[in-house]
Amino acid sequence: MAEYVVEFGKDGSRVEPDGRLDAAAFHRNHQAIWAVLQPFLTGKSGDVVEAGSGTGQHVAEFARHTPDITWWPSDLNEQHLKSINAWRAHAGLANIRPPLRIDLSDPAWCAEMHDGSGPGKLLAVFCANVIHIAPWRVAEGLLAGAGRYLREDGRLFLYGPFKRDGQHTAESNAAFDQSLRKGNPEWGVRDIEALEKLAAGAGLALIEIAAMPANNLILVFEHKRAG
Ligand SMILES: C[S@@+](CC[C@H](N)C(=O)[O-])C[C@H]1O[C@@H](n2cnc3c(N)ncnc32)[C@H](O)[C@@H]1O
Repeated sequence: MAEYVVEFGKDGSRVEPDGRLDAAAFHRNHQAIWAVLQPFLTGKSGDVVEAGSGTGQHVAEFARHTPDITWWPSDLNEQHLKSINAWRAHAGLANIRPPLRIDLSDPAWCAEMHDGSGPGKLLAVFCANVIHIAPWRVAEGLLAGAGRYLREDGRLFLYGPFKRDGQHTAESNAAFDQSLRKGNPEWGVRDIEALEKLAAGAGLALIEIAAMPANNLILVFEHKRAG
């Protein structure tokens, strides 16, 4: 699994003694992401899973704004799970659950999702910067699980760089894609239309594309409506 993960803190970024990792990108992107999640989540209650939480900073930040929502961070990397737990302790919020060990390449995600010990049907799934730094089967598992576990009015928010009609939307994304594929041929910036096809197979439809800073996007999916 080592080649599927990003290990924060190994590139000179800060690691706190309690294991909290700090991702520079979090500080740049969390406000813009929250501006898209907030109108949907405000006034609602229920369970939200973050897939591939990494450091755990997004959940710690978003949970502060949403006391009626229970947040379930997740990852599969040991160091990241430790960091998520440390951010959870640091935040001291009752509405953040211990991280789930979810390997997204498994469409069932993890036992807790379906044995009654984890969240109920999900109000939302949030996933940032994961599916381009992982093999395609991780995107397949993410969409399959979202289709299975989202409640009827639930939504999947998928943040990252994406291609449109097979084309990069910016030179910087093309260079990033090339460097990803050089490091691992199974990685790479994903195409929105290919993701829509996966989503359709999971009973989901793309309903919104929100522009983010630095040529990133948030894709928003919900259950396909009849008719
Ligand atoms: C670039 S980091 C993004 C972390 C965080 N979402 C953020 O935006 O800061 C990618 C994360 O995906 C996780 N990841 C990679 N492959 C995964 C898989 N198969 N299942 C679940 N998480 C995975 C890594 O461990 C890492 O934490």
